[in-house]
Amino acid sequence: MKHKIILDTDPGIDDAMAIFFAFLSPQIEVLGLTTVFGNVPVEMSARNAQTLCALAEQDIPVCKGVGMPWVGKESGYAHFVHGDDGFGNINFPPAKIRELDPRSSAQFIVDMARQHPGEITVVAIGPLGNLALALRLEPALPKLLKGVSIMGGAAFVRGNVTPVAEANIWNDAYAAEIVFAAEWQLTMFGLDVTNAVPFTPQFLEELKLGNNKLGGFVRDAAQFYVQFYSQNREDKVCFFHDAMPIAHLIDPTLFEIQGGHARVSTDPLNIGQTSVALPGTTTSPDWLNAQQINVATQVDKVRLTQLYLDTYQA
Ligand code: BDR
Ligand code: CA
Repeated sequence: MKHKIILDTDPGIDDAMAIFFAFLSPQIEVLGLTTVFGNVPVEMSARNAQTLCALAEQDIPVCKGVGMPWVGKESGYAHFVHGDDGFGNINFPPAKIRELDPRSSAQFIVDMARQHPGEITVVAIGPLGNLALALRLEPALPKLLKGVSIMGGAAFVRGNVTPVAEANIWNDAYAAEIVFAAEWQLTMFGLDVTNAVPFTPQFLEELKLGNNKLGGFVRDAAQFYVQFYSQNREDKVCFFHDAMPIAHLIDPTLFEIQGGHARVSTDPLNIGQTSVALPGTTTSPDWLNAQQINVATQVDKVRLTQLYLDTYQA
């Protein structure tokens, strides 16, 4: 049986690579894309998701979601990583897009979960405001979903926005705190694994060779992204953070996963820090009462890379 997923996203170059990867995977059925602010403002995020669906000829719902963090002022966005357009400034011509679904991202998640109880995994690869709001709309959501897999956080490694915080969590830490505390099966793919697999320009050429249209789009968009990631290092690389939770659904043996009690900090200095207490590492009631999550701690780089190439090629 295929994995039914909703992709909650802020496209974004690595989002684009992950979305196409999901579309191209025979084991995955994407019920819709829900969008959120993050790499770019939410209007652009939704428009970019519509463009990616049009390019991949996927006639599925796209919803616009939250444009602001749960608490605090509007985000600064990551145009310096993803370009002014979110796609590495490639001037992609406007595509003939399907209209936006009139529902909010949160409402769509709730509606789909009620329609397919126990069957859907929400794969969240942007800030977590839509999921936090969906929990407010439907407190029974954890029981209605099969699980939640996220790209976000940094459990045992340093952050990428501050020394302790990863971008998706830092962008909406109060929403992340709500999502991490909910009683669902949450699996976190943070910088612990996503920063462990650098991708070279050669990989981008191979994606294009495998699939000229979709791989070619990723290759072109990622030129800007490679420049960003290659500052202050000798080699040229980039990181496809967002595809990892999807790869895990397809082949769980690619990852080592550990269980632990998790907390998200909303403390000003450490805002967005994700900390995990592995079993036996604390007797503190505050930590033992924290919700248990699964954290990816190791990844098989060679087999993961091959899965991406094979999927883009098929
Ligand atoms: C995450 O932040 C965004 O820039 C990427 O799309 C990814 O979801 C990595 O920290
Ligand atoms: Ca993202």
